[in-house]
Amino acid sequence: MKPKMSRRTFVKVSTAALGIGVANASLRSGAAGADRPVRLGLIGVGRRGAGLLGILLGMPGVQVPAICDINGQHLARAQDLVEKAGRPKPEGYANGPEDYRRLLARSDLDAAVIATPWDLHTPMAVCAMKAGKYVAVEVPAAITLAECWELVDTCEQTGRPCMMLENWSFRHDNLAVLNMIRQGLLGEIVHCHCAHSHDCLDHWFFDPQGNIRWGGEFLVKRNADQYPTHSLGPVLSWMDINCGDRFAYLTSTATRSLGINRYFAKKFGAEHPNARRHYAQGDIVTTVVRTDKGNTIVINYDMQLPRPYDNRWMIQGTQGLYCEARQAVYFQGVSPRYHEWEPFGPYQERYEHPWWKALRDQAGHLGHGGTDHLELRLFVEAVRHQTQPPIDIYDSVVMSCIVPLSELSIAKGSAPVECPDFTRGKWQTRKPTFAVV
Ligand SMILES: NC(=O)c1ccc[n+]([C@@H]2O[C@H](COP(=O)([O-])OP(=O)(O)OC[C@H]3O[C@@H](n4cnc5c(N)ncnc54)[C@H](O)[C@@H]3O)[C@@H](O)[C@H]2O)c1
Repeated sequence: MKPKMSRRTFVKVSTAALGIGVANASLRSGAAGADRPVRLGLIGVGRRGAGLLGILLGMPGVQVPAICDINGQHLARAQDLVEKAGRPKPEGYANGPEDYRRLLARSDLDAAVIATPWDLHTPMAVCAMKAGKYVAVEVPAAITLAECWELVDTCEQTGRPCMMLENWSFRHDNLAVLNMIRQGLLGEIVHCHCAHSHDCLDHWFFDPQGNIRWGGEFLVKRNADQYPTHSLGPVLSWMDINCGDRFAYLTSTATRSLGINRYFAKKFGAEHPNARRHYAQGDIVTTVVRTDKGNTIVINYDMQLPRPYDNRWMIQGTQGLYCEARQAVYFQGVSPRYHEWEPFGPYQERYEHPWWKALRDQAGHLGHGGTDHLELRLFVEAVRHQTQPPIDIYDSVVMSCIVPLSELSIAKGSAPVECPDFTRGKWQTRKPTFAVV
């Protein structure tokens, strides 16, 4: 049994949630307090962390007084990046795997940005919230159910917001689709497909020389949807999850595991240790979530077979549907030809989200087509104005909990597994706040 949120904490959290409009407003110039500095401490500045740092340094008023990474080269490269951007050299923390605690104990930081391996996200985010910091944590925020609850409990107890950096929630196309759904074009939503199809064997799970990296270690020991949040990012708001509906239960099924052994045998020879190793992880995992309302979501994990990148978003309601792979829509009584697709492009323009209107000119050349810039900018503005960032702790953990729940269902022969209600009933009365401007 989880403790109830105290009235004081509830008031803090819900007041913060109401403040989201301030962060949205301040994307435009001239908002009150727009020049207040925001002081960030970064933890983990490998590939992703360095990329995030580069984007953050392009934002007005962002200061980076401290950076932590156990890898001295990564730390030095990041410090260099800050100096090249004309800011003072940040203090470095590289004194072992727990040194991030020293960084988080600093009183001159407003927020922590965490981009470390998956199993470190929750311990670092929890420590940051307890130290009074806002948190932006990379995906997934948690990899066990206990971690999901620890994040929720800590966030509620400390009143410090924690936002998982699920960038695909902020994509130009996905936010236009959200606008279309909210304006009723699709009718009542019933069903959705999504996937993370991204062959990551030769650069992320393993290095190009065939050495296992930390991500690959998870493939050895777990059989799960290990990376569900890029699939689910836009789906949460499309389907009002945590604000009108919730994940009730799921079933997950994994295929056999062939891709990793075949990749190594082909590239490094059949005798390579990684060609002979046993991997718990099946090549494709298919999860079906049923929501409390009775809607369904199909989620595919697909990261270890040769293929181009794909998300296969498809969302369907009583009046029509959007299909990302076809770049097409169909709306009954609106589309010119009966039961024929029409292009999505003109809809994307017509239903462009105001966030993108505000940022389009500045953000087009930045990470992931401006999406990462938008996501981080909204986080920074929330820190600056002490408001709720656009992705809250409930959305962060509900996307992440697919990792342990899919693992459990697969282990039980695809048996249905109940999804916890991390909002403790509040989903029934909460109103959508994500991207409401
Ligand atoms: N949102 C996205 O599009 C996206 C893209 C890539 C990666 N990611 C996420 O970003 C995170 C990092 O991925 P990556 O590809 O940058 O990995 P990486 O291995 O390149 O970087 C991880 C960094 O964390 C450091 N680190 C490890 N243990 C540490 C500790 N105890 N204290 C301080 N630093 C520590 C490492 O030295 C390394 O520099 C992962 O969670 C990943 O899922 C997200």
